[in-house]
Amino acid sequence: MATGTSLSEVFPLSSRLNERGRLEVGGCDVIELAEEFGTPAYVMAEDDLRTRARAFSRAAGRAGHPQRNVVFASKALPCTAVLRVFAEEGLWCDVASAGELQLALNAGFLAERIVLHGNAKSEAELRMALHRKVGLIVVDNFDEIDRLARLVNDGELRDGDPQPVLVRATPDVRGQTHEKISTGQADSKFGFAMDEVGIAIEQIEAIAGLRLRGVHTHIGSQLLDLEPFRKAAAELSKLGEFPVWDLGGGLGVAYTEDQEPPSIEDYLAAVIDAAAEHLGAHSQLLIEPGRALVANAGVTLYSVESVKRNVSTWVAVDGGMSDNLRPMLYGAVYEAHVADRFGGATPCVLAGKHCESGDVIVRAALLDDPRAGDVIVTPATGAYGFAMASNYNGVPRPPVIFCRDGDARVVVRRESFEDLTARDVP
Ligand SMILES: Cc1ncc(COP(=O)(O)O)c(C=O)c1O
Repeated sequence: MATGTSLSEVFPLSSRLNERGRLEVGGCDVIELAEEFGTPAYVMAEDDLRTRARAFSRAAGRAGHPQRNVVFASKALPCTAVLRVFAEEGLWCDVASAGELQLALNAGFLAERIVLHGNAKSEAELRMALHRKVGLIVVDNFDEIDRLARLVNDGELRDGDPQPVLVRATPDVRGQTHEKISTGQADSKFGFAMDEVGIAIEQIEAIAGLRLRGVHTHIGSQLLDLEPFRKAAAELSKLGEFPVWDLGGGLGVAYTEDQEPPSIEDYLAAVIDAAAEHLGAHSQLLIEPGRALVANAGVTLYSVESVKRNVSTWVAVDGGMSDNLRPMLYGAVYEAHVADRFGGATPCVLAGKHCESGDVIVRAALLDDPRAGDVIVTPATGAYGFAMASNYNGVPRPPVIFCRDGDARVVVRRESFEDLTARDVP
């Protein structure tokens, strides 16, 4: 909600309402962006991405301490321009498929700074990771160990250098979050149960082409409380001592003004202290933030196509579940505003254009007298929107626009109708 001309933390850093009462992101007036680039559009504040990356790196690195690396979970926003920013800022990159690995390499991440995840890695994906010599493969299950054993025995794959690996453990720690993004519970599809980790490690250590470096865990996402991170470190300590611990991502963000996530600094202090206390002060520590690096750096712009009143006031826009699946997938709650009339009080349902009643972007939006042609902004849409976008109903996916110091540039163009048929084989 606007306070004077400054905005809440839900918006990209340094966003403001300008003299005309319009939202500005990265110094760019979003009404002008909508006119120039069309809607829907993802708008990212480039400086915000860099500021958050630096905040993570600063908070992670303290002189005289063991190596601590910030690994961007690229699934949150697998966009080349964003990956390039984070590669330039010295982050590492977490990938969860061969496609994400390709994107990360293409964007300039050194292979040795790439961590490969996945609960169902194919032989082709493992082959590619071995060929490209990624920094770490996080082993998820016994079938993957068998597959890796076969591949590393095929001498061509890693020039005699053993492949560093971590074992993913499921510590049976649950954070408070939606069940679909909770991963640390015992009945999880990810990782080894705690009593199987030792067996997995023995098997890995028996394979000459693999080099066990340590343990990984990721207990879940959008966690607003730090206690589960501490508890996970305490649980993991039961597994023994290792040179590398990767404690995953999961730091939550504010999607709405009333949410108060821990700061990057408080989160890292908690994780680093817990790691030092339970996992040894001299190990290398990796953390894998996804949404905390990108969610609040982005907003989505839509145009209102129609306003209809029955039991509710339905404000229908030109996008929806094809550009932001999170509300439909796990009830994620967002704010919405008319981009040049903030501070509205009319209760509205912000509906998408897709042929599903569930295509509702914001169930309880408060808008100022919305009408056809208005530009609507939904903040905090930088994470997992672009990543999960689709062509449902033949809707071309939106562009990504970087804004900085009043300049806007398209870093991903809008899809065209030709793109919709580009894979057809005549
Ligand atoms: C292994 C792993 N690391 C990091 C993340 C990033 O999570 P978040 O975006 O909540 O920080 C995820 C998310 O699914 C994950 O699976």
